[in-house]
Amino acid sequence: MSLSNFDMDTNAALKRVGDNLIDPSSREQLRLVGDEFVSGSSRFQVVRGVPRFVASDMYVRSFSLEWNTHNQTQLDSFRGDNSSEDQFVKKTGFNQEALSGKLVLDAGVGAGRYCDVVSRWGADVVGVDLSYAVEASAVTFRDRKNVWIAQADIGKLPFADETFDYIFSIGVLHHTPNTKAYFMKLVPLLKKGGVISIWVYPATPDYVARKAWVPFVNKIPPEMFYKWCRWFVPFLDRNRNDRLAGWLARVFPHSDQGLGLENDILDTFDGVSPKYHGVHSPDEVRNWFTEAGLINVIEPSTWQSCMQGTKPQ
Ligand SMILES: C[S@@+](CC[C@H](N)C(=O)[O-])C[C@H]1O[C@@H](n2cnc3c(N)ncnc32)[C@H](O)[C@@H]1O
Repeated sequence: MSLSNFDMDTNAALKRVGDNLIDPSSREQLRLVGDEFVSGSSRFQVVRGVPRFVASDMYVRSFSLEWNTHNQTQLDSFRGDNSSEDQFVKKTGFNQEALSGKLVLDAGVGAGRYCDVVSRWGADVVGVDLSYAVEASAVTFRDRKNVWIAQADIGKLPFADETFDYIFSIGVLHHTPNTKAYFMKLVPLLKKGGVISIWVYPATPDYVARKAWVPFVNKIPPEMFYKWCRWFVPFLDRNRNDRLAGWLARVFPHSDQGLGLENDILDTFDGVSPKYHGVHSPDEVRNWFTEAGLINVIEPSTWQSCMQGTKPQ
């Protein structure tokens, strides 16, 4: 793949990050030299068009498989509907008027369903993910000069404090080893007056039930569990009135979101395959925002455990 979308001169998002792109360990500035981002003490390679600030996908192997298999399933640009845009507005409370022209961080970009929305709205978007999902999203967005994708860990991001106007992280932080601690890593990256929105799994019975399955599913290789999802979800769909299928549907967690079979296969896999699966009440999330010193803390919709807050000027 050409690297032309990934250098300072042609990529608007990277250009705006500019001097705020730093070595996450030494915090020295990074410069692009050939196909490496270089500081005085480290080098980070650009591989297949994606800068790598981590050595591997660590604990998110299931997501590497998920997003490279379903690289477009949930993208409005591919589906031809507004399902991701609708969810984005509900989960963040952000709108086009506010984000257009702003520098935005999508923390845990996955295949890029929300990066797709925000970049179409006219924001300059940096999308980071720990998994090899970045391989898929970098290809999807290779012609959008306002999107820059990097493989990086939210726990150790290569950005100086006060870089971004807006930050969002949807369905991500509960998949890290410590939801609150990883949220706290994002707050310093906001400019003064900047706004952050997150959505984490709520502690409702359906998510608590899914969490109980995680230790069992984690013992199965992701490829094998994915094959089960590819069989099981269409089986339930074909046999809606069958008693055996009805029983299986009650016993095994599965997705039926009305967004098509491919979406439900992806979401069934997504629901129980990740290593970490935190659940958090809205009160708990609100307390993190307050503790982080954010103001104007609101729940943008009735979607549980979404929260938005602003960094004071
Ligand atoms: C359920 S997916 C959500 C992706 C996207 N936000 C969406 O809603 O479609 C969770 C994503 O978080 C990423 N992730 C988990 N831990 C991470 C970390 N420490 N740093 C960056 N990304 C992480 C996973 O690799 C995965 O792609």
